[in-house]
Amino acid sequence: MNGQISILGFAGSLRQGSYNRALLRLVVELVPNSAKLEVFELDGIPLFNQDLESSPPEKVKEFKRKIKAADALLIVTPEYNYSVPGVLKNAIDWASRPYGDNAFEGKPVAMMSASIGMMGGVRAQYHLRQSFVFLNMHPVNKPEVFINFASQKFDDKGRLLDEKTKELIRELLDNLVAWAKRLKIA
Ligand SMILES: Cc1cc2nc3c(=O)[nH]c(=O)nc-3n(C[C@H](O)[C@H](O)[C@H](O)COP(=O)(O)O)c2cc1C
Repeated sequence: MNGQISILGFAGSLRQGSYNRALLRLVVELVPNSAKLEVFELDGIPLFNQDLESSPPEKVKEFKRKIKAADALLIVTPEYNYSVPGVLKNAIDWASRPYGDNAFEGKPVAMMSASIGMMGGVRAQYHLRQSFVFLNMHPVNKPEVFINFASQKFDDKGRLLDEKTKELIRELLDNLVAWAKRLKIA
């Protein structure tokens, strides 16, 4: 490795035209030179079954491997019913198990959310922050990136049109990289 911070990003939506997946694609372009971002797609992860947690499906094993290898994580998610989408929560549950093999242990993490509503996914982010406590993760506090009225801020090719939001995303990524560097040498 050349001193770059490796970030693993994943989105809480499987939808082809997802604003959140589009955001993750944009992040690949905005990430600072001192870091690189790999996107992990959550589709294909089956529903969590605790009977299988010690010998999980291949896709879960791969997810856990990549989380453990990454210096930092980036979660980009919509809000479903005022909370975390099941797809994302399910993936987190798998990767946190079995007890004693929590892939998220000690990981720096940043979040963004996009929603078509007025609140921009704030409730999903705060529910995620609650899970980060149990997972013993280290979230970046600021800036908080909530993209509201997403249908007006992306074009029909999924490109984010709002320059101010792009600036905020750059700041969040810079802070995540700085945070990961601090935690790495701590
Ligand atoms: C099951 C479901 C629940 C939703 N609940 C919320 C919600 O609580 N708050 C909100 O702002 N939007 C909610 N939405 C609308 C989403 O913001 C919108 O579908 C958004 O485009 C989803 O993100 P995506 O484009 O990345 O798939 C909900 C959508 C679905 C399908």
